[in-house]
Amino acid sequence: MLNLVIIGAGAMGQNHAAVIKNNPLCRLVGMADANPQQANVAARFDTRFYTDIETMLLAEKPDGAIIVSPNHLHADHAELCAQHGVHMLIEKPVADSLARAQQIIVATEKYKVRALVGHHRRHSPLIQKTRAMIAEGALGQLVAVMAQFLLKKPDDYFEVGWRSQKNIGGPTLINLIHDIDGLRFMCGEITQVYAQSRSSVRQFDVEDTLSANLVFANGALGTVLASDAVAAPWSYEQTAKENPMYFSSEQNCYHFAGTAGALAFPSMHLWQFLDAAKAGWQHPMTQTQIVVEHADPLARQLTHFCHVIQGTEPPLVTVQDAARSLATVLALLESARSGQIIFV
Ligand SMILES: NC(=O)c1ccc[n+]([C@@H]2O[C@H](COP(=O)([O-])OP(=O)(O)OC[C@H]3O[C@@H](n4cnc5c(N)ncnc54)[C@H](O)[C@@H]3O)[C@@H](O)[C@H]2O)c1
Repeated sequence: MLNLVIIGAGAMGQNHAAVIKNNPLCRLVGMADANPQQANVAARFDTRFYTDIETMLLAEKPDGAIIVSPNHLHADHAELCAQHGVHMLIEKPVADSLARAQQIIVATEKYKVRALVGHHRRHSPLIQKTRAMIAEGALGQLVAVMAQFLLKKPDDYFEVGWRSQKNIGGPTLINLIHDIDGLRFMCGEITQVYAQSRSSVRQFDVEDTLSANLVFANGALGTVLASDAVAAPWSYEQTAKENPMYFSSEQNCYHFAGTAGALAFPSMHLWQFLDAAKAGWQHPMTQTQIVVEHADPLARQLTHFCHVIQGTEPPLVTVQDAARSLATVLALLESARSGQIIFV
């Protein structure tokens, strides 16, 4: 039984606490949050509460820590865990800048601790199946990818200040990074981006809407359309049915098209020509349902983290790998700012 602590008892910290409760490999021994009012969260999860992270690490001597503080604090909190020899699961984005991600890499190497980054969708059976299908050539040569993150965040979401703060919050850094990381995992590396953004609905310093063109290393092209200010059901959150917090629609958020077939995600409808020898727009296509058994990626990620702590599995998402997803979303923001194509 591994002893885990959580740093940051906010919205996502509570999700982690809930999955720890249901995992037989670990138990929650403490939560730290700078805001003393979050003590009631620790009480709800029947665990000890600290306002100081180091005091908690010294008192609990945990096997692992889950870092769920605001993005700009991840690096300092990760360094502190490393200094105390504590393995860690760091929420995404791994940090708010590439220099801060490097700070984590240096600390984990210096103190010889293991770090996993919380791009939990990589543990999704839907994402893993799609990655395997693309790799096995089920679509032929991958040519075109279309991704949408189109939903409406409730207004009270923005009562938490950092979520709309430039260079720390905003939907590209907080949300679209999930999609970008997933696209990298499924389709291969993204090498070039060109983006435009607007903040005309919410009028915050951060964007509420972004459109982008992507170039993948394998030659495929992609488009991304993202907005957290629209009345729309086309996002991973609202279609994948992996988190009951979200309204769930019977829609798709991604489309993958190749020379031999196309896949709608997450309906997992595979489109192919009935007769591969008769391909062309006048010929009939068939729709095949690819069956994927659903599982909660957050719970699967936690089990994986326990195995990472035990040293029986290498981290599925390393800090270096997550830094590449961070570099890609930073490139999107830089392209939107400068109007230039950015090479990642
Ligand atoms: N994987 C996912 O799907 C997912 C979803 C939501 C959020 N996140 C990530 O989780 C992190 C937290 O997001 P959130 O929405 O829960 O934020 P939040 O603001 O609700 O919670 C953050 C908590 O950290 C606390 N905190 C601030 N400074 C601290 C400090 N110095 N020491 C200890 N605690 C401190 C705050 O008081 C707050 O309770 C972010 O990195 C975010 O990107 C991931």
